[in-house]
Amino acid sequence: MKIVAMVGSNRSDSYNMQLATFMQKRYAQKVEIEILPINKLPFYNQDDELNPPEIVKEIRNKIKESDGILFVTPEYNASIPGVLKNAIDWFSRVEKVMVNKPAMIVGASMGALGTVKAQLQLRQILNSQGVSTLTLPGNEVYVGSVHEKIDENGNLIDESTIQFIDTVVDNFMNWIEKVVIYASAY
Ligand code: FNR
Repeated sequence: MKIVAMVGSNRSDSYNMQLATFMQKRYAQKVEIEILPINKLPFYNQDDELNPPEIVKEIRNKIKESDGILFVTPEYNASIPGVLKNAIDWFSRVEKVMVNKPAMIVGASMGALGTVKAQLQLRQILNSQGVSTLTLPGNEVYVGSVHEKIDENGNLIDESTIQFIDTVVDNFMNWIEKVVIYASAY
């Protein structure tokens, strides 16, 4: 099983990147998680979509070959950051490689609500025509007060959060196996 991850932060000490890296290591036995360098993408420009920069083609192929997508989103002004929206816009055009891909969402912020508003919007975006991922229902992973739950080595240390994410990842693995039949019918 191979999953690609899109992390919506370009900050060097990003909590969301630490969360993605933690998941990459913790679930290595059951799933390979490759974190895509979406922070290196240029701004989406419709003029370039038929002849996109090399990095767009590279990431697009990785999404195409994956079994699913993990979205890891911070919350910026009650929405998803431009870094993540920009990536979604690129891959929603021409070759729509996210269509019918299983997807799951997690997100972390220092606030109490842990990216609730961003994730609600992200679910709506993922449901749009050019994206149309098969997003895991429920299983809403809001990591609030993240600065108290990640140690100086980037490890998630909050036991109940870890156990919840363990369950959600298992649910996602089952979801992928179920919806692959649906996806292959298209
Ligand atoms: C934020 N932050 C934030 N947090 C939140 O819970 N709700 C919000 O609406 C916002 N808005 C917001 C806007 C902008 C422009 C910035 C820079 C930050 C705080 C944000 O959650 C915090 O900076 C996280 O640490 C960002 O995630 P990474 O970069 O650590 O992954």
